[in-house]
Order: sequence, then C-alpha cells, then structure tokens
Amino acid sequence: MSDADELLRIEGIRKTFPGVVALDGVDFSLRRGEVHVLLGENGAGKSTLIKMLSGAYTPDAGRILVGGEETRIQSAQDSERLGIATIYQEFNLVPDLTVAENIFLGRQPRRFGVIDRKRMEADAEVLLKRVGVNVSPRARVRELGIARLQMVEIAKALSLDARVLIMDEPTAVLTSEEVEKLFAIVRTLREDGVGIVFITHHLEEIAALGDRVTVIRDGRSVGQVPAATPEDELVRLMVGRSIEQQYPRERPDKGAALLTVEGLTRDGVFHDVSFEVHAGEVVGIAGLVGAGRTEVVRAVFGADPYDKGTVKVSGSSVAKHDVNAAMTAGIGLVPEDRKGQGLVLDASVEENLGLVTLRSATRAGLVDLKGQREAAERIAGQLGVRMAGLGQHVRTLSGGNQQKVVIGKWLLADTKVLILDEPTRGIDVGAKVEIYQLVNELTAAGAAVLMISSDLPEVLGMSDRVLVMAQGRIAGELSADEATQDAVMTLAVSTPTTTTGTEASRGH
Ligand SMILES: Nc1ncnc2c1ncn2[C@@H]1O[C@H](COP(=O)(O)OP(=O)(O)OP(=O)(O)O)[C@@H](O)[C@H]1O
Ligand SMILES: [Mg+2]
Repeated sequence: MSDADELLRIEGIRKTFPGVVALDGVDFSLRRGEVHVLLGENGAGKSTLIKMLSGAYTPDAGRILVGGEETRIQSAQDSERLGIATIYQEFNLVPDLTVAENIFLGRQPRRFGVIDRKRMEADAEVLLKRVGVNVSPRARVRELGIARLQMVEIAKALSLDARVLIMDEPTAVLTSEEVEKLFAIVRTLREDGVGIVFITHHLEEIAALGDRVTVIRDGRSVGQVPAATPEDELVRLMVGRSIEQQYPRERPDKGAALLTVEGLTRDGVFHDVSFEVHAGEVVGIAGLVGAGRTEVVRAVFGADPYDKGTVKVSGSSVAKHDVNAAMTAGIGLVPEDRKGQGLVLDASVEENLGLVTLRSATRAGLVDLKGQREAAERIAGQLGVRMAGLGQHVRTLSGGNQQKVVIGKWLLADTKVLILDEPTRGIDVGAKVEIYQLVNELTAAGAAVLMISSDLPEVLGMSDRVLVMAQGRIAGELSADEATQDAVMTLAVSTPTTTTGTEASRGH
C-alpha cells in the first residue's frame, strides 16, 4: 500500500492528566478505505487518543500527520477542517434542540440571514433516511431513546462529509438489527474511500467489520494485527492473559422469594407483569428494544409510577413511585443510562460509591467517614476501577470505569434485590468476568439479581431463569436448560395474549 493511501499517522503520542498517564507513547495509522479498530481495556486510553484527533485535547508530546503533513489540531474546528468527524462515546447532543438543529448545529443553512428551517429539516430527513432511523427531524433530542440518539450522532457525522470518521463504541447501545444497519453504512463509506476508526468491546464485530486492529494497553500501542486474528489472541494482546471462562455462573441453592411482582401494569406501557426472584437467583429479562423491560424495572425501583399491581420485598409491599421506599426495602438499580441516572459526574469516585450507604448512615445520624473510605477502597479495588485515586471526579473516568462505579455503589449498600439494566455495556472482556464474579458473590451471600441485557449470550450464560418480554408482557419463562438463543428469540417476537402471570410463565 502506497503512502498516498495514508490519511492519518500518529507517532509517539503522550498525554498526562493530574495523577494519570493516559497515553504513554501510541503509534497509529489510518488508510483510505479501511476500518481500523482500536482495542483495549477500560481506561487503556482509546477515547483519549481519538480526542487528540477531534481537537478536544492536545498531546503533550508526539506527532500527528494528516495527509503526510504534520498538523496541530487545537480545536473542533481544526479537526473538522481536516475532514475528521467524531462520534463520541458519551453523546454530544443538546437535549432541548430538535434532531435537525443538532445535526446542523453551528452550520444551519441560512436564507436572507435567517436560519432556513425548511431546508435544514429536509436535509436532516435525507441524512436520517440514509442511516435508516425512523425519527422526525423536528423531534426534541430529549425525547429520544439512547439507540436513536446514536443514529442521530451518525447522521450528524455524515453531514460533515468527512474523510476520516471516528466512532467511539457506536454499537454499545444498539440492537443487533441497528448494528447491521450501522455496518452497512460503514461499509458504504469505506467503499467511498473514507477511513474509519472504530472502537468496540464486542470482539465479534472486529472480524465482521474491521481491516486492521491496533491494541492499546496501559496507554501504549502494543501491537497491530489483522482484524481476522482469532478472538482469544486479541484478548491476550489486550489484557495480557487469556480468559478461561467467559460466563462463570455458579448457582447457589435457591432461597425464599425476595422480590415478588404481581400484576404490574402501566397503561399503554406494560401489562400484568408477574414474577418472583428468589434469594440466590439470577433472573434474566430478555426481549427486543421496546418490549418494556426497562420500563418494568424502573417501576419496580419506584422511579416511574404504575397503575395496577404490587411490588413486595420479602413479603412486604413497597410503596409505589417512591425510590426511597424501594431503596429502604433493599432494592437497587443500575440503570442503562449511567450518565443520566446512575452518577453524580462532578463528584468524586468515593462520593459516588457512598451515595446509597451515606444516605442511610446520615439518616441514622452517624457518618463513619473512615469506614466509608475503607469500604470504597475495597470495592473499587475489587472492581478494578482504573483511577488516579478515590478523589478523582467520575466525569474524567473512562466510560467502562464509570459503569463499575455505578455497580459498586449498590454492592456497598448491602442491596437485597439488585436490578441490573444492561450492566456490561461498554465493559471490556476482562472486567465483564469480574462483574459476573461479583454477581456470583452477591447471590452466594443470599441476594437476588434481576438482569436485563440485550447481549443474549450474557443472558443465557449468567441467568438461572430467563423471562422473555414482548410488547409489554411476559411472553414466557425459560429455565436455564431451556433457554437457547432460538427459544428466547421465538418468544421475543411473539404476540403474547392476555394471560395471568402464572399462565404466562407456562405459555411457551
Ligand atoms: N480529563 C481527564 N482528567 C483526568 N483523567 C482523565 C481524563 N480523561 C481521561 N482520563 C484518564 O485517562 C485514562 C484513559 O481514559 P480513556 O477514556 O481514554 O479510556 P478508554 O480506553 O476510552 O476506556 P473505556 O473502554 O472505558 O472507554 C483513564 O485512566 C482516565 O481516567
Ligand atoms: Mg472510552
């Protein structure tokens, strides 16, 4: 391949933040018409590296060459001018603006000096069609779910007509169907000669879409390999060891019912949802996006109201639409949207880990700061949170490490019923196994775990029982032995009829 095909080259890039060496010598290059995957553990430095290209950060040392020429990228405008478009891991959209306004932010078409809304919306419509997402250009971004936000981000990047497109974990929040659409778009762009930098923790996507892979470990590039490299080899390069068992579920004996949900209904959203989770059990909830899974668990946690039904913990009713009541009863929720709901971004790791426990301690009138700190240290160590120290603001943790903090705060709080909504989204393969081990420990200690996941192998690998939701109802229940990919999918696309909870659980 000739040099003329090289769009971009990075040599010996370094970047230090207070207390953290984020990048300690990274080399990377990107050719026309290739998908170059950046692979590395949570906190390895992937997002920091691409932020050097998008103008969000400037390197402390090292060179960036674009089209063979050394360049300084000091702002988003510099980056854009060089033909680089970036889709960030943490979204960058303005919630109160419309979809069209977000796509053309700062570049709105004008007519006689005023923004030409008609044209802007028509142009946005074309882009949204191209990415295959069904959303109105006039919808407010605030109203969109996380998958649609991602597609809007992609439409926005396409509107820039970039030569280099950087995507930081674009598939983390997408369903398999949406992933296919995204891949089709990426392949078309590649054929047009665009160079694509693609970050993912889903190893199977590498062979499916990638051409080359650069592996980053602890802020250094440790190798460049073809995308066809076997997965276990990629894992070894990435974490420095091999992973024996991806789903290490150990099933303790099942105890009494801890969580009992009966006839839970929210008109127009979910209907007559009944199930139990016992001490020691992991119950998975599978289903397509829009099946009502998140809505049900948010109602169980008191974050949303419901119209009919009951939620009980150890036989006692929990007041509805009352998060405090749910927490006092021992229910915890790790939400799918960690940034919006799970964390206080401008507080420290320690404060975030202590959010739930501190609340009960303060209520009891005593705050054991030392104990608090020791507990936070222990849990952060157990989860392998990569940070400069407990005082680091959560905002500056890598995406995967933020997720570990959300999980950690409930682990600290002695939660009896832990609800996990997409718990390993954005988590690297090694850390996933660590989270599964914690789930094992929790259930071994007598807790009940309810887990929503769109990652079917994860649901099948870690659940003792799987509930499948379709169209706001429980379409069926499968034991660990019955739960195969096919059995789950068959139920997930079924049209459940009105049944009682017990009939529903037999109805497959
Ligand atoms: N603004 C900042 N201030 C302090 N530390 C930072 C800042 N930005 C990043 N870091 C640190 O730099 C390291 C690399 O983070 P980065 O976000 O690049 O990781 P990543 O490889 O993208 O991880 P993930 O897979 O979890 O997204 C982390 O230890 C992170 O805490
Ligand atoms: Mg990242």
